Amino acid sequence: MDAFSIEGPVRISGETAAAGSKNSSLPILAGCLLTDDECIIENVPDLRDIRTMLRLLEMLGRTVERRGGDVVVHAGRVTSTEAPYELVSTMRASISVLGPLLAKEGEARVSFPGGCAIGARPIDLHLKGLAALGAEIEITHGYVHARSPRLKGTTMYLAGSAGSSVLATDNVMMAAALADGVTVIQSAAIEPEVVDACHFLVAMGAKIEGIGTTTLTITGVPRLHGCRYRVIPDRIEAGTLLAAAACTGGDVFVRGADSSHLGIVLDVFGRAGMTVTSSPEGIRLQAAGNVRPVDFETLPYPGYPTDMQAQMMAVLAHAQGTSVITEKIYPERFIHVAELNRMGADIKLEEHTAIVRGVSRLEGAPVMASDLRAGAALVVAALAAEGTSLVRRIYHVDRGYERLEDKLTALGARITRVRDQQ
Ligand code: EPU
Repeated sequence: MDAFSIEGPVRISGETAAAGSKNSSLPILAGCLLTDDECIIENVPDLRDIRTMLRLLEMLGRTVERRGGDVVVHAGRVTSTEAPYELVSTMRASISVLGPLLAKEGEARVSFPGGCAIGARPIDLHLKGLAALGAEIEITHGYVHARSPRLKGTTMYLAGSAGSSVLATDNVMMAAALADGVTVIQSAAIEPEVVDACHFLVAMGAKIEGIGTTTLTITGVPRLHGCRYRVIPDRIEAGTLLAAAACTGGDVFVRGADSSHLGIVLDVFGRAGMTVTSSPEGIRLQAAGNVRPVDFETLPYPGYPTDMQAQMMAVLAHAQGTSVITEKIYPERFIHVAELNRMGADIKLEEHTAIVRGVSRLEGAPVMASDLRAGAALVVAALAAEGTSLVRRIYHVDRGYERLEDKLTALGARITRVRDQQ
């Protein structure tokens, strides 16, 4: 397995460019199954989860091709409606093929995703929404089997105890785009990636009203056509690069980052004492001498994103004072706490809240990534820590960041990819 060897402390400064959004690209690529026509998706980042999704589309019988930053899903028919365990177990977003296959082919068999390092992550809302559209759903031998010769529009409420769901909204909306009649999704997710998926569907000929609001009204059409569509920049990658600058007393400009998707994250950086300047070209963060403590809680958009919780914790680990971070989306998403403490941080967990007492310095240490964003947080902390850190199991980081070590090296990091026994 690969690891990152990181020498700190460094100052992250200079200009870099935002990649295309992973979490937009994944459901949009699955959405290409709604048509037999060619779709060209632009600005798709080249990273492990995307390669997994492309492999899944190929297993379902479609031909895909990468042309630079674009992915071409060639015209053709699906030859299988099964998403096997081997793929779904490595990437939960594989569940996004369920709605498109069901709506277009009348059937889908998708391995039931298990738990993962950030929590239980149920799929009840996906199934509730598709059942409301008239699908017959069976769960047998570890697979979800959904069938319906023709889906029928209806009105449904689609949130659970943690609020709305991004991929459940995508799945149901994609299925509803080809259903008979009108579907109203109440309490739809409004994350920028869901809005992006809506715009992609409209480019395919779908009829959707209320885009960007919690009530989506989808009038089904008999067929969708191919399109060319460009995905939005990755707000979490941009936020992570800004966190690297904030943690190291640096100054970075992320070209192409969209500040309208990062409102509350930029606000938290500001409250922590950073100077943030946004323009249509991108976002610049200039770190202050000292990091100030900030309290925040993660919530569905436009609340603070859970995917930026760990990286901001790394920044606040050496604030002058105590920060309180509450995780409301994935209450167990705190495995990075013990690893940050190995680097000299002083963080205590009280149920779903982390009490982060700022320390004057972090120290390099061997640590282990447990999920994608936890891994990113350890990299951010290691850049600021004194001495050498070995961040292990960076295959998690590779799932969601395109050439992270190259981008950081260009900004002044001393980071190398090494082979590791673990
Ligand atoms: N939930 C349910 N039932 C469901 C689905 C979700 O109770 O059927 C709950 C979840 O347990 C969680 C909350 O609803 O408490 C929100 O989960 P959501 O469904 O929105 O998550 P997701 O759609 O599976 C996407 C991102 C995640 C990101 C979450 C929250 C993709 C591919 N994944 O997951 O990204 O954390 O939204 O914003 O879009 C990451 O990139 O590191 C990552 C984990």
